[in-house]
Amino acid sequence: MLGIETSCDETAASIVAADRTILSSIVLSQTPLHAAYGGVVPEIAARAHLEHCDGLVRRSLDDAGLRMRDLDAVAATVGPGLIGGLIVGAMTGKAIALARRIPFLAINHLEGHALSARLDPGVEFPYLLLLVSGGHCQLLMVRGVGRYLRLGTTIDDAAGEAFDKTAKLLDLGYPGGPALERCARAGDARRFDLPRPLHGRAGCDFSFSGLKTAVRLLVERLGEGRSAKDTADVAAAFQLAVADVIEDRTRHALILAQDHGHAPSALVVAGGVAANQAIRLRLARLAATHGLSLKAPPLALCTDNAAMIAWAGLERLARGLTDQLDAAARPRWPLDPEAG
Ligand code: KG4
Ligand code: ZN
Repeated sequence: MLGIETSCDETAASIVAADRTILSSIVLSQTPLHAAYGGVVPEIAARAHLEHCDGLVRRSLDDAGLRMRDLDAVAATVGPGLIGGLIVGAMTGKAIALARRIPFLAINHLEGHALSARLDPGVEFPYLLLLVSGGHCQLLMVRGVGRYLRLGTTIDDAAGEAFDKTAKLLDLGYPGGPALERCARAGDARRFDLPRPLHGRAGCDFSFSGLKTAVRLLVERLGEGRSAKDTADVAAAFQLAVADVIEDRTRHALILAQDHGHAPSALVVAGGVAANQAIRLRLARLAATHGLSLKAPPLALCTDNAAMIAWAGLERLARGLTDQLDAAARPRWPLDPEAG
């Protein structure tokens, strides 16, 4: 299965075999193109995808030691995401499927993240998924392929977005998550007391805008004379607050899932923020107290990549869930249609 991912600021192509072997996986980050703007510029992203997508497909074949005619099917992300990039990836995938007369699979990017943990053969349905990325922050019961129940979501910013904005406030650069985690290692997380929005409240929704504002006010208070130690202490306090909130909300979701009669077999974390070691540690502890194991994809599969898209394609193909070549790119596409 060839997988193609172009929904945001990574152009990626990968080939995955039905036995879960990743034969190749290439991710071309556009970070340097967007860095000067402090965020992804859709028009720049679309043009960069257009420039690189076919070359990456070629390289993914070369890396796998395969020819175009060896492909059995093609999966491309068609949503949710930035429409320009989605169209580039979808059209590339469709063109190959049409030319080679092989099945095409129109993949939901979130489903890619949701199923990526199953590249490890030990992960069985149903499981509780915490999806924490730059654009999404959700708790979902994954009951099967295409069967998702959303238990909670963010009412404002996504967790990764909060990391990115806080890193920007602290002049740590873009993308902020990894930079902030590095900076926080040297910090004292207890020096500053930051709010933990929705902590302890019923349900399992998230909110991060209050935390972001608190960090902004704190940084303003520290002013021009802010030292490297001050910055590390703010970063550590922020990361601890996010970890506290994520652990609390996920605990509520585990209880809620059990109340709904969906006893999860594991706690799975996916999305870019799942690369954060401090957050992983807290989730592993939480899972253990519920008698579950924490399953997290390897770091390279947490952030955006095409192996997860190829894998979602294989899961769907195995169930006969192929798509027509008129499948449209969809900027908005919730995994749980009931949750809108
Ligand atoms: O899944 P992803 O690659 O793209 C989206 O679909 O959004 O996630 C990217 C997000 C960014 O907000 C980035 O700052 C965050 O994940 N991230 C991290 C870490 N690595 C990436 N956040 C916290 N700690 C990290 N180590
Ligand atoms: Zn993503």
